[in-house]
Amino acid sequence: MGGETLMRKILDYGSRADPYPLYAELRRTPVSRQEDGSYAVSTYHELLALLHDPRITSTHKDREEAFGGQFPPSFIGMDPPEHDRVRGLAMRQFGPPHSPHRIHDMRGEMEATIRELIDAFPAGGEIDVVDAFAYPFPVTVICRLLGVPHEDEPKFRTWADELVASIDPRPGEDPSVRLREGAETRRELALYINDLIENGAGRSDGGMLFRLAADHDAEGGPLSRVELVVTAILLLIAGHETTVNLIANGVLTLLRRPDQWERLRREPEIAPRLVEELLRFEPPAQIILQRGALADIEIGGVTIPEGSVVAMVLASGNRDPKRFTDPDEFDPDRPDIEHLGFGSGVHSCFGAPLARLEAQIALTQLVRRLDNPRLLADPPPYRSSAVLRGPRHLPVAFDRVL
Ligand code: HEM
Repeated sequence: MGGETLMRKILDYGSRADPYPLYAELRRTPVSRQEDGSYAVSTYHELLALLHDPRITSTHKDREEAFGGQFPPSFIGMDPPEHDRVRGLAMRQFGPPHSPHRIHDMRGEMEATIRELIDAFPAGGEIDVVDAFAYPFPVTVICRLLGVPHEDEPKFRTWADELVASIDPRPGEDPSVRLREGAETRRELALYINDLIENGAGRSDGGMLFRLAADHDAEGGPLSRVELVVTAILLLIAGHETTVNLIANGVLTLLRRPDQWERLRREPEIAPRLVEELLRFEPPAQIILQRGALADIEIGGVTIPEGSVVAMVLASGNRDPKRFTDPDEFDPDRPDIEHLGFGSGVHSCFGAPLARLEAQIALTQLVRRLDNPRLLADPPPYRSSAVLRGPRHLPVAFDRVL
């Protein structure tokens, strides 16, 4: 099958439960031209090279048209040097090197949140791991980090679901319809966040949003109001949709391999390695769509012409046998798990330390407390998105909560 039809098949919902054989076919042509003139990159070394290539832009036209009528792009859609200024200002409030302890300070709070969620499981019976566990946890964490009131969380769930749907193209559907719907959701979210900053900026115990708004000392700062709103939306959405999928993919992967579930229960210290291997084996962000070529780029025996749209199939690179031995084996003991699950280069995931810690805590506590867990549906029903891929529901039966 040619690369062009393969990419359509990958985006097709019927392939969601197991896209990996299709990625293996795609890798036969590391850089393949699609029927619409765009390019798909599927092998590890080519992906890594392009993720670090300054001739690849994130400010792609389609993206700007989708959102730009109302808002400037967030920093995920900017190139250096503008990207580095906004990312740098946000980073000052978030993690190293300026506030290295902020995330690890949250460990106790995260453990308490997980404990409460598990305590609320029915004493014996069934749960949906997504709705009862994987979803509410990261939402709570990101809302606390940003300073968003927890009671507003249901609103965010709706907005986040709508935004994820809007970046998920479906074959045969006009993508502009979805992108317009996404723009409308962003507008609602923007108004909400603007109100929040207006009303809460004076709060002394404010979260990251309020501190960002008041960061007058930083070089290049502070962010303008519109930059702040757009950054907040990015953090809110990027900060939980992906983490939900990492946790749900993790539970699924471990329940399919009861020896690994048992091992994490006995050896909680392997959690960091296990989470890294999960990010390689079942990465929540499978594909980065819509990068653009600023020049002709020769790679993988192909010339990507200037102006082309480029899709980076990260999840395929993570299973590339030229990079990983036995790539289809889940093996937390592999000596070197340098996966592409968080991307790479200037746009590499800003929230990686937070996402890692959340998944480590969530999985370690769940394996300790669920007695005799069993998957009730394998494969489970998946979310529609091929890009941010994960189960929509994950029904699990167990004997008791320990
Ligand atoms: C960027 C994955 C969690 C915030 C990225 C990128 C990937 C990714 C692949 C690169 C996108 C690109 O190159 O265009 C993930 C995964 C996560 C996760 C798999 C969870 C398992 C988070 C969290 C936050 C976050 C918790 C925030 C609190 C961001 C931001 C960017 C980003 C702001 C843009 C960085 C930039 O453009 O400089 N993430 N992410 N992510 N992520 Fe994450």
